[in-house]
Amino acid sequence: MNRKVTVVGGAGNVGATVARGVADKQLADVVVIDIADQKAAGVALDMLEACPVWGSDARVLGTGDYAESANSDIVVITSGMPRKPGMSRDDLLNVNFKIMEQVTAQVVKHSPNCIIIVVSNPLDAMAQAVYKLAKFPRERVIGMAGVLDSARMRAFIAKELNVSVDNVHAFVLGGHGDTMVPLPRYSTVAGIPITDLMDKETIARIVDRTANGGAEITKLVGTSAWYAPGASVVDMVETILLDKKKIVPCSVFLQGEYGVRDLFVGVPCKLGARGVEKIIEIKLTPDEDAAFKKSAAAVKELVGVIKV
Ligand code: NAI
Ligand code: 2OP
Repeated sequence: MNRKVTVVGGAGNVGATVARGVADKQLADVVVIDIADQKAAGVALDMLEACPVWGSDARVLGTGDYAESANSDIVVITSGMPRKPGMSRDDLLNVNFKIMEQVTAQVVKHSPNCIIIVVSNPLDAMAQAVYKLAKFPRERVIGMAGVLDSARMRAFIAKELNVSVDNVHAFVLGGHGDTMVPLPRYSTVAGIPITDLMDKETIARIVDRTANGGAEITKLVGTSAWYAPGASVVDMVETILLDKKKIVPCSVFLQGEYGVRDLFVGVPCKLGARGVEKIIEIKLTPDEDAAFKKSAAAVKELVGVIKV
């Protein structure tokens, strides 16, 4: 294929789900990179052997050698420690920052023109670290969280109203943490705001479940989620490679938008072949704005600890 997607940390749960999704959908050739290089080779071989069943001609290769990733169109970074029950995403800060330092140097060296999608947690702080280390334009470093958080909210709304997920849109802004800001006003079913379809208590329950969606899975499974996070990244990869110009919430380096400067926070973005092609600014109510600023302040605190 003439497109290449590299997944760093691709032998792990989220990374392997991303690699598999990209290969199965025949979006690009896939390079799985991991410090667990043998596992990366094995996981990639297994995926390659699945391709004939799915009718995909994607070539999948697993290795610890970044030379194989040269000139990737997109590099997805999922390397890093996941949460265990009782841990917050923020507990991962210092250990995953060190991994971002090692990984980003290699990514920039071998794929200087790629678009980077960061997944490792704490998401917004890791995306900011990669952005500062890579020195890429802000359009080409994107944090994945909002697609996942809004997918969770969509799933809960669809279940509550017993309607197709196809009818449901949900909007979640802010940092990928307990302070994230699900926006009921902009969440709709067949174009109808959910505020017209559900009572306040039900909406509050869905909002709370969305904000704690990661912890809910971690408590059940013993480690953090991978199916929905992986699917969310594949959606972003597809949107970029097919230049779809889809509007999705992404963590991006804000420079004054929403009244926030020099910080990665989740906002609606138009994604296309150039990465983040536009940041969409919507008018927030005073309460929503306060919640968004609180969420941004939580990201700023983390970014201050790692000094990026
Ligand atoms: P995992 O432990 O299954 O996989 C991580 C992989 O990274 C392992 O295979 C490991 O060998 C590899 N790795 C570690 N250091 C490396 C290095 N220096 N170079 C290359 N590879 C390295 O973890 P999982 O569940 O896949 O989660 C990965 C990360 O994604 C975690 O930080 C987790 O918190 C985060 N995450 C973020 C989400 C989001 O919405 N942004 C959602 C789900 C997970
Ligand atoms: C999640 O939301 C842990 O960030 C991860 O599932």
